[in-house]
Amino acid sequence: MGVGILLTVCIVGVVFGIGVQCFAQSVTFDQSYVITGGTNDHVKILDGGLTVQLVLDQASASGFESKNKYLFGHISMNIKLVPDDSAGTVTAFYMSSDSPNHDELDFEFLGNSSGQPYILQTNVFANGIGDREQRIYLWFDPTANFYNYSILWNPEQVIFQVDDIPVRVFKNNAALGLAYPSSQAMRIYSSLWNGDSWATRGGLQKLNWTHAPFIATYEDFSVDACQWSDGSVCATSNGWWNQLNFHALDSKSQSQLEWVQQNYMVYDYCTDTKRFSTTPPECSQKN
Ligand SMILES: *[C@@H]1O[C@H](CO)[C@@H](O)[C@H](O)[C@H]1NC(C)=O
Ligand SMILES: *[C@@H]1O[C@H](CO)[C@@H](O)[C@H](O)[C@H]1NC(C)=O
Ligand SMILES: *[C@@H]1O[C@H](CO)[C@@H](O)[C@H](O)[C@H]1NC(C)=O
Repeated sequence: MGVGILLTVCIVGVVFGIGVQCFAQSVTFDQSYVITGGTNDHVKILDGGLTVQLVLDQASASGFESKNKYLFGHISMNIKLVPDDSAGTVTAFYMSSDSPNHDELDFEFLGNSSGQPYILQTNVFANGIGDREQRIYLWFDPTANFYNYSILWNPEQVIFQVDDIPVRVFKNNAALGLAYPSSQAMRIYSSLWNGDSWATRGGLQKLNWTHAPFIATYEDFSVDACQWSDGSVCATSNGWWNQLNFHALDSKSQSQLEWVQQNYMVYDYCTDTKRFSTTPPECSQKN
């Protein structure tokens, strides 16, 4: 049919400068998502679907995914991470296409002992190649409240944002011969699992099951992205995320990104010379 479908499930969208504010409270889990990991009692659907909890205990991990696939858009979720002793847990919120040679855009929240800081790890896979981890501390306690984590994805760049502040940008460097996620539609996923073989201080700190169940809480199930089906024209659709002003960061966003990089970054694959004897080519490009 050749028609790109712009799926905006926000009931009312009000444009505030660069963003779209959705009254997401009105969108329930079931409208866009299904449970995929863990039995039903490990994914608790509350408030008629406005709030969802993922539960990790010794019986099971848990997860959910979007019913549809999307190609470009703005994906956002409000998450309150596992409180208190969360060491060894990994809460993931990400997009991925199907194998082989898949594309993937990741937020992974690595838990910690009570009072110790979470790490937010981001990664980008393009055409099956990942190994692009960056890690930051957050400037707030992500277990105390809901904060929003979003990915703006268009043909020119991917912006990872925390409460609308960019924490990472991955540019389309096709001109350098580098793969970029631009043709494979992705589903949205979230999961809560045991990553204690690697997550907390390189696997030194194990998950303490006496503190289970571990619970992460989600709100805002709106999806503001181009829903993909055969023949969709998402790459040229006129979704707001495709507009010219989202093809590069503006100066305010650029300085916010630099603030995060200078004050909160704890690991950057670009500077890991032990892992990469030659700097990955995209690293020498300006954001
Ligand atoms: C995300 O958080 C920021 C700061 O708290 C807020 O201004 C913005 O409206 C939130 N966006 C969404 C989609 O909830
Ligand atoms: C946990 O806390 C320790 C000590 O403050 C810190 O070194 C580490 O980066 C924190 N995060 C993770 C995920 O290990
Ligand atoms: C696990 O937590 C329990 C209860 O807080 C505590 O007594 C125990 O020492 C912890 N185990 C480890 C290995 O830290």
